[in-house]
Amino acid sequence: MKTLLSAETIAQRVRELGKDISESYGDTPFIMLVILKGSFIFAADIARAITAPNFTMDFVRLSSYAGTSSTGKVAIHNDDVERLKGSKILIVEDIVDTGNTLVWFKEYLNQNGVTDVKICSLLEKSSVHQNRITIDFCGFDIPDKFVVGYGLDVDGKLRQLPYIAEYKGES
Ligand code: IMP
Repeated sequence: MKTLLSAETIAQRVRELGKDISESYGDTPFIMLVILKGSFIFAADIARAITAPNFTMDFVRLSSYAGTSSTGKVAIHNDDVERLKGSKILIVEDIVDTGNTLVWFKEYLNQNGVTDVKICSLLEKSSVHQNRITIDFCGFDIPDKFVVGYGLDVDGKLRQLPYIAEYKGES
């Protein structure tokens, strides 16, 4: 597998993102809303890189992928949004590919009265989503390749890699 982003490169960028997020929120309270499963490693690192003092962490599971392609249909697995109402939300996502998941989720939150929503994504494929969605804090813009590692999986596997690699179908 070809390494796209080394562990060191990721760590450096996560530190920068943590600084940007801290400066943006300051002392203002917010909820870091982690999209499971793919974001769990990024979320653990970005949470520890944020020096802003007033945030809590919450988790929601969304799914749209089977193998290496999007099904186009997003499902939510914990739909109790009452707890988020009236709070500032920072969504933490692993990757924005087509943008379907976050366009759908932001709309879902809006319709349920959660309106102050920002997005932090480690990766984006801007050539694919073509500005369908604004990412407030983005780690890296990558080419239209399927990637694994640092939480990102192929059918549940390879999340544990400490780096991000291009997946070409090998095991
Ligand atoms: P979107 O809805 O097309 O933006 O895709 C978002 C979700 O698809 C992400 O949260 C990932 O779970 C998954 N995904 C998209 N691209 C990749 C990839 O290259 N590797 C692993 N998962 C991906």
